[in-house]
Amino acid sequence: MANSLFTTCFATLILAQCSLGVIRQSDLTGILRINPELIGSQYQFFHGVKPDFCNHLDCPDFTELNKTKDYEERAYRASRWVSTSVEGMDYSAAEEEMFDKLFLYIEGENTKKQVIKMTAPVLTKVIAGSGPACKSNFTMSFYLPPSLKQPPQPTDKTVYFSSLPAQKVFVSYFGGYATESAWLEHAETLAKALVRDSKSFNQDFFFTAGYDSPFKILNRHNEVWYIAE
Ligand SMILES: *[C@@H]1O[C@H](CO)[C@@H](O)[C@H](O)[C@H]1NC(C)=O
Ligand SMILES: *[C@@H]1O[C@H](CO)[C@@H](O)[C@H](O)[C@H]1NC(C)=O
Repeated sequence: MANSLFTTCFATLILAQCSLGVIRQSDLTGILRINPELIGSQYQFFHGVKPDFCNHLDCPDFTELNKTKDYEERAYRASRWVSTSVEGMDYSAAEEEMFDKLFLYIEGENTKKQVIKMTAPVLTKVIAGSGPACKSNFTMSFYLPPSLKQPPQPTDKTVYFSSLPAQKVFVSYFGGYATESAWLEHAETLAKALVRDSKSFNQDFFFTAGYDSPFKILNRHNEVWYIAE
């Protein structure tokens, strides 16, 4: 725990440094902007082929808009999720607690006792060091595919439905088993690359997206997301 980067609010410092960069960038023009309303009508999603990293599970549709050596720009359609939030210092402990709740929901802890197929990714929104004593706010979400027309209501009052709008996302990815420090390191690297490239993005939070069960050994795929503005 003492090693947890979040306990020192280190993540907040990283982001604060990045925001200085963005202020300097603000007089630059020509930042690619896409009206989110248009996303969805304008683009062909997935081109009929799901990415391998979805592991044949349902995962949200996106289309790749650009790819640099450091990150991809993707346009996602609006999507529905089932979520739960926790405040804390420790990413791993928070992840475990939230995963258990959402897993119970899909295993039948809902008003219809309906078992729902696992989807990908396991998406966690991290608002670093935002709470009292520098606690971070974590929200974990499981994707609800369009084929699940009427998701059953969760019975756990701390589990709720949420949605993400059609939006543009900056994504970087890495392999192996993701640790808290690996997530943070990749978020920092991505944020710096976006500032360097004068991309406009929301620096108040990032997402971690894990696609694999602990039992998948090879070709693991972990993503860090920042939302374009
Ligand atoms: C944490 O963030 C979620 C979603 O961003 C929000 O709904 C919730 O109110 C926040 N929790 C706290 C304690 O700030
Ligand atoms: C992709 O991003 C790079 C880096 O910012 C930029 O130079 C290039 O013009 C972009 N290409 C497209 C098609 O947006």
